[in-house]
Formats: sequence, C-alpha cells, structure tokens
Amino acid sequence: MARFSDENLAIATQIISLYPQSRSALVPLCHLAQSQDGWLTPDAMENIAELLGLQAAEVLGTASFYDMLHTEPVGKYLIGICTNIACMLNGAQEVLEYAEESLGISVGNTTEDNLFTLEETECLADCGKAPCLQVNYRFFGPISNEDFDELITNLKSGSLGSQIPDHGTINRVLRKQGLAVSMSEISSQRAEADKQIAKRKAAQAALDASQKGEGK
Ligand code: FES
Repeated sequence: MARFSDENLAIATQIISLYPQSRSALVPLCHLAQSQDGWLTPDAMENIAELLGLQAAEVLGTASFYDMLHTEPVGKYLIGICTNIACMLNGAQEVLEYAEESLGISVGNTTEDNLFTLEETECLADCGKAPCLQVNYRFFGPISNEDFDELITNLKSGSLGSQIPDHGTINRVLRKQGLAVSMSEISSQRAEADKQIAKRKAAQAALDASQKGEGK
C-alpha cells in the first residue's frame, strides 16, 4: 500500500481542479493519502508526484516539513498532548508522564499493538480546556489522569465510534465543487493582472525619474 484507491483518486482529481496550479494541491493530497493509510507511504508519495507532475523527493521534502504529515507509520490513534503554557500550568506535564506510563511508551513512539502513538504538541488552540489533547485531531479536555484512562478504554472498545475518524482525516467535510471559472478564464485574468502591475510599475518609474530630474 498504497497508491490512491479509485474513490480517492476521483477525490484527488477534484482537489487538483480547485487550484490554478496543480502543485498547489500537494498538501491537501498528502492529507488525503494519510486519511487512506494513516501515513504517507512511499507509494503514495510517488502517486501524488505523478498526479502533480513533481518528483517524489519534492513530495517528501514538503511532507517532512509538516508535523501533521507522517512519513513513518503511526498507530490507529494518534494522541497529541499539549504541553504549552496554559496546559502546562494546568498539569499537562503530569498527564503526559501518566500517558507514557499507562501506554508503556515514551513520546514519539507507538504501542506494540499499533493502536496508539503518543505525541507532545505545542498549543492546540483549545487553551480554555487546558490541559487538553487531541486524538486523530479531535479535541478532548480538560483531561485528568482518570479521564485519560477512560479515553483509552473507550478507544480500545471502539465506543467513541464516529466521533474519532481514521487517522489523518483532519476535515469532516470534503469540498465538493471545483473552480467556478475555467482555466482559460483564470489565465486571462492573470495576464490582465500582470499587465496592470507592469503599467503601475512603469508609471512609478516615470514619476521617480521626473522627481529626480526636478531635484537637480
Ligand atoms: S496551551 Fe494547550 S491548547 Fe493552548
């Protein structure tokens, strides 16, 4: 695994059509591939490169820059515990240490059954619920050690069901429509904009030259 499934290939094609330049779809396609397999497999990166007319190394170069894109396998549930200031002041470090002990792994690792990967994160923008965490990018907080135990039990039993998507699925709703205007219309609008910019630059240059002349 895995190149895009037929269904995801159709979605990928649609995503590409949203952008005037296909390479702009690179990050969204990485998220799509990740939602399919949980991480960006070498095959997926090659597939994305083919679709966008890039080299697989360019896909890897971009993907490896972003913390939310995984170029190594991760567990079914990616748990990110925030230890930034508001969470830290509310006991995040203790929760993180408890999570490590309870899961039997240190930060950055995955449990042997491939169910859980533990991450320490920067501010998750949910400071009002400090200390908080995310499971597959869904928020939980404030979290105590007891809450953490309950969360793990529920994840193991599958009782959180649709509340937690497959790993890598960051958006709940896929944008369904392509661009409202054609590519040729975009090109002509861009050409017109370039013309206007060049005109303004020329006018500015002429003004600068005449002011310089008056100053002599
Ligand atoms: S500091 Fe933890 S969510 Fe902002």
